[in-house]
Amino acid sequence: MNPGFRRLSAYPFERLAELKKGLVPPAGLPHIALSIGEPKHEPPAFVIDTLRANLADLGSYPATRGLPELRSAAAAWAKRRFGLPAVDGESQVLPVTGTREALFAFVQAVVDSRSSSETPLVLMPNPCYQIYEGAALLAGAEPYFLNTTAGNAYLPDLESVPADVWRRCQLLFLCSPANPVGAVMDQAYLARALELAQEHDFIVASDECYADLFDDESSPPPSLLAAAAAMGNSAYRRCMTFHSLSKRSSLPGLRSGVVIGDATLIAPFLLYRTYHGCAMPIPTQRASITAWNDDEHVRANRALYRRKFDRVLPVLRAVIDVDRPAGGFYLWLNVGGDDAAFTAGLFAAQNITVVPGSFLARETAAGNPGAGYVRISLVAPEEECVQAAARIRDFILSRGN
Ligand SMILES: Cc1ncc(COP(=O)(O)O)c(C=O)c1O
Repeated sequence: MNPGFRRLSAYPFERLAELKKGLVPPAGLPHIALSIGEPKHEPPAFVIDTLRANLADLGSYPATRGLPELRSAAAAWAKRRFGLPAVDGESQVLPVTGTREALFAFVQAVVDSRSSSETPLVLMPNPCYQIYEGAALLAGAEPYFLNTTAGNAYLPDLESVPADVWRRCQLLFLCSPANPVGAVMDQAYLARALELAQEHDFIVASDECYADLFDDESSPPPSLLAAAAAMGNSAYRRCMTFHSLSKRSSLPGLRSGVVIGDATLIAPFLLYRTYHGCAMPIPTQRASITAWNDDEHVRANRALYRRKFDRVLPVLRAVIDVDRPAGGFYLWLNVGGDDAAFTAGLFAAQNITVVPGSFLARETAAGNPGAGYVRISLVAPEEECVQAAARIRDFILSRGN
């Protein structure tokens, strides 16, 4: 057995189910789930129609590289969304069946745990999407956590990383907008990450699956690719970015995303994927082309999230400080105490499920940076989100803090 298995942590939702076990919320209060980051907005009808219209293509094996039309639609999206000078759909883009599998598979493909006696390091934010950690462990690497806290504006502090850690680093994960903290990395930050990658010879894997969900319509979050291009690195050397239709187009069940980046990384990743065997079904590809080609439904999607934040935040702010996130659809709420006890108490009193921040982060020498926080996912319908905010407010008032 791969020894990494022994070190995989329980998924946060398993721990959450354990925490809620035996608790009985009041009868009559409907349950509101603000726990899972699963978009619930209506998927765009034209995408579903395209999927239906192409079902006959299920009679053919799809190619791992995907249709050229899909790669060029994703390349065109990335160019207009991030203002990139060029993206080559032939050599710099690959379809993936959701970013989750791609984030995992990419680490297996690029980490080299055999040519040195030292265990390689994969650096990642803490808290982060748990797949980064599991991918590193199963690839024979050691995760190295960069705590994101209020003290560093929820951005991994790259300058605090010791030289010896950079020396062993093979891959740095970034996530912007970040799950769960909602922070966005500006272009200067991303450029610095790339400078360090050049200096210390590692790859930057930038999880940008929330890139199209942002608060300020006039200031969309930049991509690592834009930072590279601005530095004159138009080949995107050392860069791999991960994009998804799950959040952008509220299509989590379609399992459709793309990776875009360095052609010298895309080529071996394609080879890996042909063995791995996760080509995207052709009807899914056809539907995805229509989704990448349209920005109007994404603007409408953003407006829906914005309205939820507009209505939920004033209700919560009557009793507790909470920041409006620059991107994504999560609130990262400092509950000023035991986050697991808060989560259990909120469920028992108000029939609302959130996620304890400590379940989303790892213990480090400086503590667990998720402790004292809960993650609230504003995916439920607007009225439910507003009702949930009122019940969270009442719960906080009832605890007297
Ligand atoms: C930070 C982050 N990355 C990746 C994913 C995976 O998304 P998908 O596989 O649907 O593209 C998620 C899903 O919640 C996420 O929060």
